Amino acid sequence: MTTPDALMHVARALAQETATLIIDGRSEAEVAATKSSPIDIVTQMDLKAERLLRDRLAELRPHDAILGEEGDDVPGTSGITWVLDPIDGTVNYLYGLPHFAVSVAAVSGDPTPQTWTPLAGAVCDGSGVMWSASRGGGAWRNAQPLLRTAAPSLDGTLLGTGFQYVAEQRVRQGEIVTGMLGRVRDIRRLGVAAVDLCLVAAGHLDAYYEHGLHPWDFAAAALIAQEAGVRVAGIDGGPPDGRLTIAAMPAVWDELAEALIEAGADRSWGAP
Ligand code: IPD
Ligand code: CA
Ligand code: CA
Ligand code: CA
Repeated sequence: MTTPDALMHVARALAQETATLIIDGRSEAEVAATKSSPIDIVTQMDLKAERLLRDRLAELRPHDAILGEEGDDVPGTSGITWVLDPIDGTVNYLYGLPHFAVSVAAVSGDPTPQTWTPLAGAVCDGSGVMWSASRGGGAWRNAQPLLRTAAPSLDGTLLGTGFQYVAEQRVRQGEIVTGMLGRVRDIRRLGVAAVDLCLVAAGHLDAYYEHGLHPWDFAAAALIAQEAGVRVAGIDGGPPDGRLTIAAMPAVWDELAEALIEAGADRSWGAP
């Protein structure tokens, strides 16, 4: 049997090797394609990084399935699926900003976020920090365990968020940000969902929300935040499902969700 801890070690090794590839190749990054809109870019390094992750998984874990941003789904027979974001924060990566990461998660069960069980995850960021967690085994920033206890009030919250790539959705997301600005200490938009969640795990952000995340944006980092004591859930309180994801300490989660609804967020909107 493969334990969550063993899967975390695989996730870390894959994230580390891929982070080295993208950090080394950054000066040559070029836009290779666009996806949901003209601003939704893919560089040739996203494709190379996804290829490396898939090649390594084919060698190390040939019976597992793969769900990755830049490639077709690969079926498996083991019941484990690897959920891959080869570069989270592609726009930052292209512009030479430090906020980007490789995200690798292992989940069991049906590979949709509503029903899967996250087992392990690793997020290696552009400054070389390795964030990781295994189910029931805690969360880590490099070798340092992460456990959040402080839960500031909503008006003392430094709140992270992000935006989708489609114009109409961004306009609506902007209106919600406007509504939230008067409710919290301040708002940050770093451009890398996986790192946003890791920063909540470490208390560098108090909380985070975003509409329209894809499974690979949060598969690893939601587990890291949860293992650090953060509540990460969809607006209805169930597992994040790509509509509105909210990460906050349990004591303030409900208040934040209510404030978001007052600011215009709703339960049905925002799937990617
Ligand atoms: C994006 C980033 C961004 C978030 C978007 C994601 P990508 O991922 O995480 O911060 O706001 O929702 O799609 O495209 O850079 O992998
Ligand atoms: Ca992308
Ligand atoms: Ca992403
Ligand atoms: Ca990506």
